[in-house]
Amino acid sequence: APGAQEFIPPGVRSLTALREAAASCRGCELYVDTTQTVFGRGAVRAPVVMIGEQPGDIEDREGVPFVGPAGKVLRRAVDDAGLEPRQLYLSNAVKHFRHTVRGKRRLHQTPDQVHIVACRPWLVAEFALLRPQVIVVLGAIAAKALLGPSFRVTRERGVLLPWPESAQRPADFTRPPAAANGRVGPVEPTRLLATIHPSAVLRADDREDAYAGLVADLTVVAGALA
Ligand code: URA
Ligand code: SF4
Repeated sequence: APGAQEFIPPGVRSLTALREAAASCRGCELYVDTTQTVFGRGAVRAPVVMIGEQPGDIEDREGVPFVGPAGKVLRRAVDDAGLEPRQLYLSNAVKHFRHTVRGKRRLHQTPDQVHIVACRPWLVAEFALLRPQVIVVLGAIAAKALLGPSFRVTRERGVLLPWPESAQRPADFTRPPAAANGRVGPVEPTRLLATIHPSAVLRADDREDAYAGLVADLTVVAGALA
């Protein structure tokens, strides 16, 4: 597979232009038998950027990330954590719905490393335009895409981490001075927080406990915003 890179217009300067270009991506085979590319959504100046795995069945139909069952959990948790929807930019590591067809149903299939790698240029291009204070990594696939294979969400969740030097960091994530409340001098770099994927709440034996953990992690994010 060629990967997404060749579908990204050089010098692209807006999320809207990126989204339009992503609509015709054929960087891997996942565009086949799907409805559309599901690109990230939210304000370019959103202080919090959340990265999930890939669109689900409903996201594929509607073209918007996190509007299905996992999205419902996430939006409730965001609210309970004291974050506002307008503070968020939501996106995914992989932008097409990988699935198998079983009768009338389309069943989620976890993307493979080849899909993560093929789709990663879109994430890189998004991050080149976004200036978040905190990047929230939702689950293992997003962690793989952004932090590499050795990062363990279960071990490192819920704490603000510096963006690691070893991360496959696409752009300079340092916030520009204009975004730092007029302070002079060095600005804090973007930080990172990993947590579970909201769909893990739906699969957990103890859903309430899993949900409380997600909210607790997102409360740390809310408390970290300038
Ligand atoms: N799960 C994800 O990771 N992303 C979505 O957009 C929806 C469900
Ligand atoms: Fe392109 Fe990503 Fe879709 Fe593959 S999953 S076709 S790389 S947008």
